[in-house]
Amino acid sequence: MTRRASPQPSPPPLHARLAGKRIVIVAGSGGVGKTTASAALALGLAAAGSRVAVVTIDPAQRLAESLGLQQLGNEPRRVEPELLEAAAPDTEIRGELWAMMLDPKATFDDLMVRLSPDARTRDDVLGNRIYRELSSAVAGTQEFSAIAKLYELHHEGGFDVLVLDTPPSRNALDFLDAPDRLTDFFEGRVLKGLLAPTGITGRLLGAGTSAVFAVLKRVTGVDLLGDIAVFLRSLGGLVDGFKQRAAGVKALLADRATTFLIVTSPEREPVAEAIFFRDKLREARLPFGGLIVNLTEEVEDCVGAPEDLRGELGEALGARLAGKVADAVADTQLLAARHAESIERLKARLGEPDPIVVPRLDDVTDVEGLLALYRRLANA
Ligand SMILES: Nc1ncnc2c1ncn2[C@@H]1O[C@H](COP(=O)(O)OP(=O)(O)OP(=O)(O)O)[C@@H](O)[C@H]1O
Ligand SMILES: [Mg+2]
Repeated sequence: MTRRASPQPSPPPLHARLAGKRIVIVAGSGGVGKTTASAALALGLAAAGSRVAVVTIDPAQRLAESLGLQQLGNEPRRVEPELLEAAAPDTEIRGELWAMMLDPKATFDDLMVRLSPDARTRDDVLGNRIYRELSSAVAGTQEFSAIAKLYELHHEGGFDVLVLDTPPSRNALDFLDAPDRLTDFFEGRVLKGLLAPTGITGRLLGAGTSAVFAVLKRVTGVDLLGDIAVFLRSLGGLVDGFKQRAAGVKALLADRATTFLIVTSPEREPVAEAIFFRDKLREARLPFGGLIVNLTEEVEDCVGAPEDLRGELGEALGARLAGKVADAVADTQLLAARHAESIERLKARLGEPDPIVVPRLDDVTDVEGLLALYRRLANA
């Protein structure tokens, strides 16, 4: 279905919304098009002349291939200009597009390496069984890794704009809370208690308990007590560095050059999550750049009423087929009406009179499709 010419005043172009922004964080509920919109935005900004890096999270296979991203990598790689040129010969890409697929575990490990005061701490932490389990189990690690990568690229990457796709959070708060949550983990009471000589560690190391661990080690070969002791000792050396980095990462979220775009589909749950996320941004005084309502259904006015179609098409197609076409049109119109209502609700609830509305397009997994999506986003 093609888009109906909107009778409303046209929304401020995306470029105006993003003027002066160096970090664009694309957030929203699962499956609403965050990764696709991030890639399209980065490509569009690169086409307009900027040096852009997009950090994607778990992109669909075809999208990754379109950007020449075959594997997880921990650094952005430039998307070959030849690849872009071949895929979209009519569009001049005046800037540079760089892309990476975030590997949260490797990013977190990298951060530990950077923050380790010495090689021994580094090796102790990375090789530690407890760390390996914890670094993937502590809630918010993936989210934190994403922002930590952003922090690093912001300070060292030399990009004009960074676009960050975000993980499909169970809850938007996972993302905003990640720096605090991990800081709590690193410096929290539990850990402090463990680190204190009179704490559990001290007691674990007491004669009775260590005998149990010694048996465990003999039977299983796993030196759990040793692992815990090494983990706590080495993590102790990292606490201050981690706290500092987490504070920097948190500050970056609130920076004047940062903005959040919230993506949603017009369906009920993502809409509820978008409203929730917008409220949380406001509470946390984080910058909001705009709302994208993606995957909407729109019907051209000229299609007409299903009942009329039934009659008009009946002669040419036969009653049965004409009936099917009319039913399909009726379904689509119903859906489009529901979506339009949903957009109105969002506008009212978010105080956002001009959301960027993007219909479901044919294919958004290749470069042409991404450029088409960008044109919708930019209202160009
Ligand atoms: N405007 C659009 N038109 C057509 N298809 C779209 C559009 N936007 C996204 N899609 C498709 O919808 C699916 C979900 O998109 P995407 O992976 O970008 O969502 P996501 O929000 O990143 O999901 P997740 O939360 O799982 O990471 C993909 O198959 C994508 O190609
Ligand atoms: Mg995604």
